[in-house]
Amino acid sequence: MQSLQQKASEWSGVAGADAFAIDETNLFEKLGLQTFVDLSTSFYNRQERIVLLIWPIPHLRLGSLVFDDEEQWFRSIFATSKKEDAIRNQYEFFVQRMGGPPLYSERKDLYLRIHTLTSVHGLDRPSGADRTPPPFPVTHRAAERWLHHMQQALDSTQTIDPDSKIKMMNFFRHTAFFLVAGDELKNPATKGAVPACKHAASKPAAE
Ligand code: HEM
Repeated sequence: MQSLQQKASEWSGVAGADAFAIDETNLFEKLGLQTFVDLSTSFYNRQERIVLLIWPIPHLRLGSLVFDDEEQWFRSIFATSKKEDAIRNQYEFFVQRMGGPPLYSERKDLYLRIHTLTSVHGLDRPSGADRTPPPFPVTHRAAERWLHHMQQALDSTQTIDPDSKIKMMNFFRHTAFFLVAGDELKNPATKGAVPACKHAASKPAAE
């Protein structure tokens, strides 16, 4: 049977070695804290002009990309999140994972601190079995949409050099599909359809 890492590599098209090339350089030292804050702020809060076709005069408004995603099913995944918390959760995790101080773990409780990716985000237990928020779908489609926004956020963060961008995107892509694979394992009956949970990514497990 394929491991989650193998599935993640197959579905993402990113080999494990490329996904974890982020560990070859200390990206936190290279890029600095502000870059990670900017990246997550851009991911969650970047404003985009949205044209509303309201007859007879089309309206323009500004919307944030993830929270106001044009696709309702994706927007609804973030419906219970607070934007400021989501930004902080994400950049603190990225900082920690990419060689910086353990900001994320320090802020989370002991339970979170001693668990790895799958348990932190509920992939290994029934929904509602702890106090993490309710599950949300991490399907192939959700992964692609998340990655689409992350690619845009990376492209709009000017302090990230091209090589770091590639390394980070490979890590994000592989991790996103690792999460999809974890969901499918947890919910074989709903393969490719609904499942889900919260997540993050630890270092690769042994194949
Ligand atoms: C949190 C969705 C991929 C890392 C969240 C949240 C949602 C979400 C809805 C809650 C926002 C909040 O309140 O903090 C998704 C979807 C993904 C995806 C649909 C598609 C596959 C990823 C990837 C990573 C990641 C690839 C890491 C490389 C995190 C982290 C948090 C988070 C660290 C904060 C968890 C916490 O502290 O509560 N994600 N995510 N996510 N996500 Fe994702």
